[in-house]
Amino acid sequence: MAETLKVVVTGAAGQIAYSLLFSVAKGDVFGKDQPLELLLLDITPMMEVLNGVVMELMDCAIPLVKNIVATDDPMVAFKDVDAAFMVGAMPRREGMERKDLLKANVKIFKAQGQAMDQVAKKTVKVIVVGNPANTNGCILSKYAPSIPKANFTCMTRLDQNRAQAQIAAKLGVSNEQVSNVIIWGNHSSTQFPDVAHASVTIQGKTMSVPEAIKDDSYLNNEFIKTVQQRGAAVIKARKLSSAMSAAKAACDHMRDWFVGTGKNWVSMGVISDGSYGIREGLMYSYPVKIQDKAWTIVQDLKISQFAREKMDATAAELSEELDAALAECEA
Ligand code: NAD
Ligand code: LMR
Repeated sequence: MAETLKVVVTGAAGQIAYSLLFSVAKGDVFGKDQPLELLLLDITPMMEVLNGVVMELMDCAIPLVKNIVATDDPMVAFKDVDAAFMVGAMPRREGMERKDLLKANVKIFKAQGQAMDQVAKKTVKVIVVGNPANTNGCILSKYAPSIPKANFTCMTRLDQNRAQAQIAAKLGVSNEQVSNVIIWGNHSSTQFPDVAHASVTIQGKTMSVPEAIKDDSYLNNEFIKTVQQRGAAVIKARKLSSAMSAAKAACDHMRDWFVGTGKNWVSMGVISDGSYGIREGLMYSYPVKIQDKAWTIVQDLKISQFAREKMDATAAELSEELDAALAECEA
């Protein structure tokens, strides 16, 4: 059997973690033969709730779970971890934008970056879920300078899954028939869900999504808005932010990172190297391919004027967020 993999989930007493932990524990992410040690981090007042989560995880009697550690100490939670799901942060409520969380959440990521820097494996693979996810990801990486920047990512997979599901529903096909939808930029209402390079297979024939939908007005307006506003729509309906779908997306993201993407690409927030003219150092969502646990940005896609404007608008928002976050961390 493989060596035990150490996986930390922060915000482990919260609602996303409640779905996420079950999926991770039963092997949906790291494989059905991969033994796991689960490290669960939350804040001190949540330790009793977290204890309940630990009891439930034990009661699932899942053979892959070799050990569970519940703690309020980041130095314990991040010790020698191989994979980190950074969920612990305040969620937004109705009427807020995700960047409104910046002041409350960014310092969490500064402190956790500092702890990770000291005790996590240098190969740790990190997904930031807590909002504002892209900017929190940048801050985490900045304060963990001994860990390669490529090991820090943030989640835009939920947006990708939402976009894919909208297209599948519009065409009356199943989700796996739609591929290569891209999310560019910020996990926010300025994100750009782009189907110009996406394809759909219908009755054995593969064609581009715009060709299949034949309605550019829908694709350039209603479709984009629906995906951009989906998080807010869920909050309005549930009075709580997405949790089941967020946990599923976090699993998809981490599984693809460990297993690879094959011929298709997926979207992830990664630290920009300047690709597609985006400011270096922003955590920007790009289409990526993954092989041998390393992602590379898909290059040379043709960018229309329409796309260029949308990609730049979301980059401008990220630049502002990052500058505000850096100022907050230094205050
Ligand atoms: P929740 O309030 O149910 O749980 C958050 C948990 O984090 C709580 O248990 C809280 O005590 C804990 N926490 C707070 N500060 C912490 C710290 N310093 N260390 C460890 N744990 C800490 O919220 P949720 O619904 O699970 O959402 C968590 C975050 O994920 C929110 O910021 C939300 O906006 C975000 N989110 C992101 C996406 C995405 O697509 N990127 C999707 C859904 C939700
Ligand atoms: C989402 O997209 O559902 C999450 O980021 C939660 C939110 O605040 O929208």
